[in-house]
Parts: sequence; C-alpha cells; structure tokens
Amino acid sequence: MRFTVAIDGPAAAGKGTISRGLAKRFGFAHLDTGLLYRATGRKVLETGLGPEAAALAVGPDDLARVGLRTQAVAELASQVAAIPEVRAALVAFQRDFARRDGGAVLDGRDIGTVICPEAEAKLFVTASAEVRAQRRYDELRLSGQAADFAGVLDEVLKRDARDTGRADAPMRAAEDAVLVDTSEMDIDAALKAAISVVKNRLEGHSA
Ligand code: DC
Repeated sequence: MRFTVAIDGPAAAGKGTISRGLAKRFGFAHLDTGLLYRATGRKVLETGLGPEAAALAVGPDDLARVGLRTQAVAELASQVAAIPEVRAALVAFQRDFARRDGGAVLDGRDIGTVICPEAEAKLFVTASAEVRAQRRYDELRLSGQAADFAGVLDEVLKRDARDTGRADAPMRAAEDAVLVDTSEMDIDAALKAAISVVKNRLEGHSA
C-alpha cells in the first residue's frame, strides 16, 4: 500500500512528536525532512563543499549523526534551505521515501505543497510564536543549556520569517491541509486529532 501523510508547520509546533506518533500508530515509515537541510548545512561547514554539492552528497548516515539538533545547525539549515539548487537536490530522496510501500509520514515545511502535493493526508501543525519559543526555552533549560527567553523568541521569529519569506517553496499550509493549532492543546490531544484525520483518509483508500 502507498499512503503518504504530509505534515508541515513551523519549528516547535509539535510536528515531530505528531509525526512520530502517527508513524507508530499506523506502522508507517517516518522522515524528518528538516534533518536533510540540517545535514546539508553541516556538510557545507565541515567539508567546504558548495551547498548544492553538499545536498547531493547527503545520505542516510549523515541523518543519523548526533549534533544535528542544535540551534546553530538549525540556523545553517534555514540558510541553505533558501537556495533553490539545494531544495532541488533533495526532492528525489523525499519523493522516493513518500511513495515507499507500507506508508510514510514526512514532516517539514513544503511537503504538502511541493514535495507531495498528491499526499493522501495533509496536516499543517502550528502554534503561536510565544508558545513555540517557550517550548524551545524549556527544552534548552532541561538539557542544561543556558538560554534567555527573549533571545529564543527572536530566533523563532527570524527563522519563521526566513522560512515563510523565501521565494522557493516557502512554508505555507496546502489548501487541502487540516490545520492543527497546538497553542492551547497538549500533545495527546494534538496526536488524537491527527490520528482521526489519517484514519478518515485511510478509510476507503486502496492500492
Ligand atoms: O524542521 P527543522 O527545524 O529541523 O528544519 C530546519 C530548517 O530546515 C528550517 O528552518 C527550514 C528548513 N526546512 C525546509 O526548508 N523545508 C523542509 N521540508 C524542512 C526543513
């Protein structure tokens, strides 16, 4: 069976948790596409390759490396993600993943709009910038890293602006995406909402 779930939205809205929860619930494979841009950004820095060559050289081993989740790498990722050649270099990998047998969940910024416009289920997961910054701030503090709330909020707003403002594949909800606003929802409620959307789309789906 081929069945693609496309999940888009800004950082720290709950996309990752929802995607992993859906993949587990339905037995689908999961790809966090942000890791492709993070690994590309890091490859540029470490190897001196140009951004396009770095994107073409990214493979599964790069996605499994530790240290991709830092704020510094997120910033690099957001920068290389604005380069059209980098985005183009990463399309085939994502589309192949999406159409694998057994079902797939992909989360990112442009999955429902550009990578998989034909996805069987689409969600746009969002939350206010303040709530997302608070979550990031709490995560940083919990992991023992120094952080100040104003600085984290500033980073969130800057990254949102770059991801929504770029000319190529900007972050936006597909017209047929179901909106899930997690500002005032706990993760269980958000996951339940997402599960019911996917269940609904799976009913009557064949092939
Ligand atoms: O989801 P994330 O925070 O790991 O993403 C890191 C950056 O990568 C994000 O700022 C924008 C970019 N990105 C993208 O442009 N398109 C995607 N499908 C996923 C991520």
